[in-house]
Amino acid sequence: MTVSLTLDHITAHYGSTQVLEDLSLAIKAGELVSLLGSSGCGKTTTLRLVAGFLEPTSGTIQLGERDLTRLAAHKRDIGLVFQNYALFPHLSVRDNVAFGLKQRGLGGTERTAKANAMLERVGLSSFADRMPAALSGGQKQRVALARALVIEPPLLMFDEPLSNLDAKLRVDMRVEIRRLQRANGTTSLYVTHDQEEAFSISDRVAIMNAGRIMQLDRPEVLYQRPANSFVARFVGFENLIGMTVTARDGETVTAVTQAGATLKLSQSVFGAIPDRFVLAARPDGLAVSREGEGIPVTLGIRTYLGRAYQYQCTTPAGDYLGNGPLTELLDPGTAAVLTPVPEQCCILPSDA
Ligand SMILES: Nc1ncnc2c1ncn2[C@@H]1O[C@H](COP(=O)(O)OP(=O)(O)OP(=O)(O)O)[C@@H](O)[C@H]1O
Ligand SMILES: [Mg+2]
Repeated sequence: MTVSLTLDHITAHYGSTQVLEDLSLAIKAGELVSLLGSSGCGKTTTLRLVAGFLEPTSGTIQLGERDLTRLAAHKRDIGLVFQNYALFPHLSVRDNVAFGLKQRGLGGTERTAKANAMLERVGLSSFADRMPAALSGGQKQRVALARALVIEPPLLMFDEPLSNLDAKLRVDMRVEIRRLQRANGTTSLYVTHDQEEAFSISDRVAIMNAGRIMQLDRPEVLYQRPANSFVARFVGFENLIGMTVTARDGETVTAVTQAGATLKLSQSVFGAIPDRFVLAARPDGLAVSREGEGIPVTLGIRTYLGRAYQYQCTTPAGDYLGNGPLTELLDPGTAAVLTPVPEQCCILPSDA
């Protein structure tokens, strides 16, 4: 049975300190959603609320038809996989996996059969009789995964499950987690601060900052169409240029930077442009050339990228990064212009 998970207007405190502010999140049945954000933004706190280790100050948590908000943790039936595998050191691999089944009242024969089948699925059949101390980090993590999956929980939650593993194993394991999650159709909430991991494993990603969700979307949308400056910066739009519209003529909008540089932008390529906005661009999205229309800049340090030259560009309103063609080598101190490449830029609401 697959179910949805809904957090509705959750606020949470530790003592008098607020750590989550009006957080709402709806995960569809069978979906894997990641919480992505820097250290201390409230990812683990969100999982603790869903697991029942912490009570929200206000708001509700719903798993399918069940209201979890005030339900005791042990009645929530959630599979948890954490960073430190928390295996029982005195139990064999098989008994570790079977542990949750025993708690749920299954008989010995059935427990062993289910544990063996799950160990087969995570590729650890030949390790069933080993003790955890005799396993590698990746093997321990797979046991932890098997232990969470074997109880067939309606919800799986992962908190940085791969952060103790080396780079190669992390990639292998995230593919493995995704495969098992898909095969079982288990609704999942996954926490990481690694953008690549979140984007590669998730149906949708929630980007968090200071206890709030800044945007929840498919990875493609986050990467190409961030909704605000915070998310834009997070996914690599290094240039955020504050602009004000000074004239409108049909689809053509004239806008100025804080330094007074003028750009003409067409709403038929950029979409609707409000009176005050932020033009967001990765270095790829600001073309450097000797002359033409655009933002006047003085070039600084040049970096060879293989496919282009990247230039530090100085203006009175701030410094930007733009890319220029390999066919034209420009030196530091040269006066140049930056022209937005429409399909590589986003128009964002003004922060102020
Ligand atoms: N038991 C606690 N008592 C008081 N404050 C806490 C407690 N646990 C966490 N906090 C604070 O709450 C905030 C959110 O912490 P949380 O553990 O949810 O962050 P996180 O996003 O999981 O970070 P990380 O990526 O470092 O694991 C932080 O400012 C943290 O210092
Ligand atoms: Mg955490």
